[in-house]
Amino acid sequence: MKTVSILTLKDISYGYDGTKRTVLHNISYTFEKGKLYCITGASGEGKTTLLSLMAGLDLCSSGKIYYENRDIALTDRDEYRSKKVGVVFQGYNLLQNVTAAENIMLSMNIAGKQGKQANKVAYALLEQVGIDQEKADRKILKLSGGEQQRVAIARAAANGSPVLIADEPTGNLDAENERAVMDIFKKFSHEENKCVIVVTHSQKAVGEADVALELKRGELSLHTDH
Ligand SMILES: Nc1ncnc2c1ncn2[C@@H]1O[C@H](COP(=O)(O)OP(=O)(O)O)[C@@H](O)[C@H]1O
Ligand SMILES: [Mg+2]
Repeated sequence: MKTVSILTLKDISYGYDGTKRTVLHNISYTFEKGKLYCITGASGEGKTTLLSLMAGLDLCSSGKIYYENRDIALTDRDEYRSKKVGVVFQGYNLLQNVTAAENIMLSMNIAGKQGKQANKVAYALLEQVGIDQEKADRKILKLSGGEQQRVAIARAAANGSPVLIADEPTGNLDAENERAVMDIFKKFSHEENKCVIVVTHSQKAVGEADVALELKRGELSLHTDH
């Protein structure tokens, strides 16, 4: 099968301002379309930091990240964040007092899409992740944790971003919901050719990945036993 790279890390390092520790050390790696990646690593190893660099929320201290061969530090980062990468944050970041569908439409409005079309896309995406119309019209605070997580995934996918990034998306879920969420990510990667990158602690989730990576001592490497 032909492989198509989409996101390339080239010798990236990162340390937080005002701290001496370098969290990430000269990481190089190329992510491809159509694949589901899992990244594991102990707490504090820098997984969230790495995701935030790939999501364009922060810039590397050194090294470069290329999206389709373009240095993201030199591109319009608002556009990159709204159209190229969708992010599922830890803790979902959903607005609690508006409905599931409205959460998605609001995020689409920010990316410049409104009206009937946005409405249609929102309900279709929610359906795709197993949220029916009745639940789509419920306020977030009236949905279960597993349902909220699916809404967060639908929102991350709403702008058609080719890259989806999720930070411990199954951390608070039971086994059944974890499987459902991993199935959604698998579909996005295998059926819609997206590049899906998931940080997880779950061995089960790692078992579902096409590529298992581990972040340790600031370095990213392939899991030896995958
Ligand atoms: N805003 C920050 N300022 C300073 N240090 C931070 C900040 N955020 C995280 N760190 C530190 O960077 C390291 C990596 O954090 P993080 O990327 O959150 O790890 P992980 O997601 O793997 O648990 C940790 O030592 C953490 O304490
Ligand atoms: Mg983290």
